[in-house]
Amino acid sequence: MTAAKRTMRRLPTGIPGLDRAIGGIPEGRAMLVTGDAGAGKTVLALQFARECAMSGLRTVYLSTEEDAGDLRVQATSFFWDLRPLETDGRLGFLEFSELRAQETAASVGIGLENRKARMTELVEHLKEGTRVLVLDSLSTHTANLDHQEFRDQFDLMLTKLRARDITAMIVFDSATSKRFNQAALYHAYGAIWLQRRENPFTGQRERVMDIVKIRGTKTPIQLLPYEITRTGLELGVASPPGAGTASAGP
Ligand SMILES: Nc1ncnc2c1ncn2[C@@H]1O[C@H](COP(=O)(O)OP(=O)(O)O)[C@@H](O)[C@H]1O
Ligand SMILES: [Mg+2]
Repeated sequence: MTAAKRTMRRLPTGIPGLDRAIGGIPEGRAMLVTGDAGAGKTVLALQFARECAMSGLRTVYLSTEEDAGDLRVQATSFFWDLRPLETDGRLGFLEFSELRAQETAASVGIGLENRKARMTELVEHLKEGTRVLVLDSLSTHTANLDHQEFRDQFDLMLTKLRARDITAMIVFDSATSKRFNQAALYHAYGAIWLQRRENPFTGQRERVMDIVKIRGTKTPIQLLPYEITRTGLELGVASPPGAGTASAGP
């Protein structure tokens, strides 16, 4: 193993308020994005993928739930034009259902309900030269696993990604994969948790981001309010420039 660089490069997320708060996503590491349905995990993941591709990094968005067409529609709703990125190969959508169709007869005959998905199969298909993986989501690959299997598989997948120096954003649905939430948070290099809560001052529901951890990085302890606006996910929308992002008053 080569000596680790003293300072790690950070990849901008495409969300300026988030980059100001955490300094970007550590390159070559795996960042978990967790939260309930509708929290904005896919929006954040898509925004990050677009940003990486725009900066010239070869980016793969591997979707296990939605088809690429729906993701393109979602992007268009934010006025993001992904076509040039897809055309020149900087951004690629990969549907897990397509990979599954390519599987050999070996797995045929094992009832799907008894079949344990291997997480590493998700990264084996990444082409040489892939710099960034967005995996949305890992939750399809947690069925039928016990705790030890989850840890082993997750760890192995992260090791394989790291060996290839791929920066990964891994979406994890905290409701469907609740049993493994703690283990996933523990093993990932960093984790962001998207939540909804009632603002104790206004009584209004709001979306907040908890930067659970990022190793080697000073992260804000406050919950960071965010909104999903017409141009994507935004942090600190209401605060004037320079104001604390998580201020709750007056
Ligand atoms: N074009 C848009 N403008 C504003 N809000 C949007 C837009 N598209 C999606 N949203 C919001 O994003 C939410 C879905 O976020 P999504 O990332 O799909 O959630 P998750 O992946 O966490 O289940 C929707 O419920 C909606 O409130
Ligand atoms: Mg989603």
